[in-house]
Amino acid sequence: MPEEKKKREAVISVRNLSKIFNGRTVLKDINLDVYKGERLIIIGGSGCGKSTLLRCLINVHQADSGSLKFFGTELVGLKDEKKMDEIRKRFGILFQNGALYNSLTVGENVALLIREHTNIAESVIDIMVKVKLELVGLRDFHNLMPSQLSGGMQKRVALARAIALDPEVLFYDEPTSGLDPIMTAVIDKLIVELNEKMNMTSVVITHDMNSAYRTAHRIIMLYKGEVIAAGTPDEIKNSKDKFVQQFIQGLADGPIPLRVSSKDFYEDLLEGVRKNEIR
Ligand SMILES: Nc1ncnc2c1ncn2[C@@H]1O[C@H](COP(=O)(O)OP(=O)(O)OP(=O)(O)O)[C@@H](O)[C@H]1O
Ligand SMILES: [Mg+2]
Repeated sequence: MPEEKKKREAVISVRNLSKIFNGRTVLKDINLDVYKGERLIIIGGSGCGKSTLLRCLINVHQADSGSLKFFGTELVGLKDEKKMDEIRKRFGILFQNGALYNSLTVGENVALLIREHTNIAESVIDIMVKVKLELVGLRDFHNLMPSQLSGGMQKRVALARAIALDPEVLFYDEPTSGLDPIMTAVIDKLIVELNEKMNMTSVVITHDMNSAYRTAHRIIMLYKGEVIAAGTPDEIKNSKDKFVQQFIQGLADGPIPLRVSSKDFYEDLLEGVRKNEIR
């Protein structure tokens, strides 16, 4: 665990945050603090709102209500692009799909944000890129195109790009999905190393409970857009909540329904019959 003193300083504070898409509440009354230096892992089934929460945290989506403070600045309703740009420099993101530019080399991908956000000389950018690629073990690959790399290597390049500007907070959206167990362990180790060596606060979304236990100081679980559990890995493992146990043990049977629908199945079918009768 990070030192108690560090733990108390919240870099992100979320209060009663809600997000609605097309009349459907996707995030409901989220309350969450992310503390400086911690590795917070967000778990939850597909579609429960993990990526949406992350996009709200970085202000790609504006929340519909509630409050979200990032380094003390309120992001809900923030229109000041200059202020947002300043905040953007303080965090990095590893997107769910990696999102590398296929027409740029590995090195150019990593250099992109540095070129966009700073006036640093090319010779220095070159060094910065090499340092970041070395951190993820891919310094020799800077001239290759993303399509010439394996999925795991692409994730590591995306990680090098996410840390290009030495962010204080690093967000990862499913950094190990689709990777083999060894590559998953490599990425998990990098998550821990970057957090410890570079003092980064880390927020990681994952489905993979092995990864979550390996990397987490603290875990929160989302279910249908709400935080239903929060605690240390041990507290989550020993949770009495049936939803949490079904998810962390990967059980087919339990309270989490297989299908998600707002309408009753038979009502849905009958609606079609009724429509045809009217015609
Ligand atoms: N831009 C959008 N417009 C409308 N609905 C959206 C949008 N983005 C997400 N949603 C809906 O919000 C819900 C949560 O999606 P989200 O991508 O946050 O889930 P997730 O927990 O990240 O799932 P996964 O584990 O599959 O990545 C889904 O029902 C999705 O259809
Ligand atoms: Mg997602």
